[in-house]
Amino acid sequence: MRPGERVRAGGQVLVLGRSLGRGGEGEAFELEGRPDLAVKVYHEDKRATRMTKITAMVDQRLADRSSLAAFPIDLVLSAGGTFLGFTMRRVRGHQPVHRLWGPADRWATFPGATFATLVRVAANVARAVASVHYAGGVIGDINQSGVLVSDQATVALIDADSFQIRHGADRFLCGVFTEEYTPPELAGRAFGREERSRNHDAFGVAAIAFQLLFLGRRPYEGRATTPDIDLDHAVAGHRFAYSRRRDTGLTPPRHMPTLSDLPPVLADAFEDAFAPVAALGLRPRPLDWAELLAQFEGELIGCAHRAEHRFHPTAGDCTWCRVRSTTGAEMFPPAT
Ligand SMILES: Nc1ncnc2c1ncn2[C@@H]1O[C@H](COP(=O)(O)OP(=O)(O)OP(=O)(O)O)[C@@H](O)[C@H]1O
Ligand SMILES: [Mg+2]
Ligand SMILES: [Zn+2]
Repeated sequence: MRPGERVRAGGQVLVLGRSLGRGGEGEAFELEGRPDLAVKVYHEDKRATRMTKITAMVDQRLADRSSLAAFPIDLVLSAGGTFLGFTMRRVRGHQPVHRLWGPADRWATFPGATFATLVRVAANVARAVASVHYAGGVIGDINQSGVLVSDQATVALIDADSFQIRHGADRFLCGVFTEEYTPPELAGRAFGREERSRNHDAFGVAAIAFQLLFLGRRPYEGRATTPDIDLDHAVAGHRFAYSRRRDTGLTPPRHMPTLSDLPPVLADAFEDAFAPVAALGLRPRPLDWAELLAQFEGELIGCAHRAEHRFHPTAGDCTWCRVRSTTGAEMFPPAT
């Protein structure tokens, strides 16, 4: 399908506008005269297998139950009546979350964002995931491209058609995964055939929150303490590099923040989320994260040396001044 073509949705004829982006499954378009909506048109070979799940999502009115995820609103059909995809809330003025956590991208995309902004976004990611759970869904494939962030620190989740839902006796599973946000207990499983749980999503929330608070570093990325550590399977091996409770064979990257820069309750939440027993259902839940992170943000203080620096008193001295003094790199430069 191309811009200018007519489609039908919710009893109306709509005209496709500009392309918003293309993925492995389909392409998103604007709709002429409807700035609030977007459509996703599946690639031709995907259409036949998607219609029942999308119909179930539309029937459940998931879009009314969570405004933070771009759930399907109506089925989209061609002028001739064949299934093409769905309409959804159009997310405007947002960027993928990874552009916020990487320092170089952040300066270009979110000038003026402070450490407090990163913390607030992490809390909002947790709230958005909680809203999907509240609506009755499970995200399944939490990843850095499906989480979008505005310059107001609000969060929107896209790619909602891949979320896992139940509809009466029918179960529609999530057929995709992203390795670094997939919990260890699912590593190496047959994706698309196993039902996923809220506790699995809780791992993804913890991993995204971690990357936001540690400027893009992954929880399982560190320095091996012995040469025989299998780094390819660090997640499956529960090798949380920052752990103070367990010997994971990894230590944190040099000269970067550690769990000692966080208050103990928040450090414990990361330990709990990445602990081997977490597979039993013990991870902090998304709403727990929202609460912990909101409290953390409220406790951040300013630094005497740089107006842009925010850090937690637990750290003693300013985290970002310390990072600058050891690496020479300024993580939160002034907005120009
Ligand atoms: N609701 C929306 N509002 C604005 N832009 C959107 C929306 N949904 C999708 N997009 C844009 O279109 C792109 C492709 O959409 P989406 O990720 O849903 O497709 P996909 O084919 O399922 O991708 P993937 O293979 O990554 O699952 C997104 O990366 C985003 O840029
Ligand atoms: Mg998809
Ligand atoms: Zn400082």
